[in-house]
Amino acid sequence: MTIPENNNFHFRKGTLADAELLADLGWRTFEETFAAFNRPEDMAAFKPTMYTPELQTEELCDSDTEFVIAEVQEQAVAYVKLNTAEAPEAITGRNPLQISRLYLLQKWTGRGLGDKLMQLCLEKARRNGHDVVWLTVWEHNERAKRFYRKYGFKEAGELTFILGSDVQRDLYMQREV
Ligand SMILES: CC(C)(COP(=O)(O)OP(=O)(O)OC[C@H]1O[C@@H](n2cnc3c(N)ncnc32)[C@H](O)[C@@H]1OP(=O)(O)O)[C@@H](O)C(=O)NCCC(=O)NCCS
Repeated sequence: MTIPENNNFHFRKGTLADAELLADLGWRTFEETFAAFNRPEDMAAFKPTMYTPELQTEELCDSDTEFVIAEVQEQAVAYVKLNTAEAPEAITGRNPLQISRLYLLQKWTGRGLGDKLMQLCLEKARRNGHDVVWLTVWEHNERAKRFYRKYGFKEAGELTFILGSDVQRDLYMQREV
């Protein structure tokens, strides 16, 4: 695909018809981001626990969840998953919104698309009366941490993330709306 000069992104809400697309895009972006840092067997074990059309259908049916898909020339290049379910204790706020996943295909990073998606999340949070936005990030995902800090997210604790047989440390981050 040719990359348009003006980065002409189109954003749309994910629907049940996107289960397969989200399983595929979800896995491709996850693999591009983390395969270099993990054992292939741990990556392979993780995939069916999250990135299958069946599991994406379940997530799309969840009334607390909303997906936004970014497209360029009708091709999906990134997505965000937002969640309004109850937050863990580490997160303060009466009505928090979770950015549960924010993933760009690698070739679309560093072009302002992350900014556009983050602004969209913050705008939704404002419009829907959320007082806090929160997320989790792998402790060694330096690019993402820098990106979140740019938007004023601050560390708010830690949690364990299991990738296959590997026990990893993730961070909670949050910011006020
Ligand atoms: C983390 C992630 C969402 C950040 O999005 P991103 O768009 O790549 O954001 P970055 O901050 O890395 O790059 C933005 C940079 O692009 C540059 N840029 C290039 N063209 C641009 C444009 N047209 N408009 C705005 N910025 C542009 C800017 O210099 C900006 O840097 P600055 O804000 O420091 O000035 C994205 O890199 C990603 O999806 N990574 C892989 C998956 C991942 O790790 N997700 C998070 C899991 S917790």
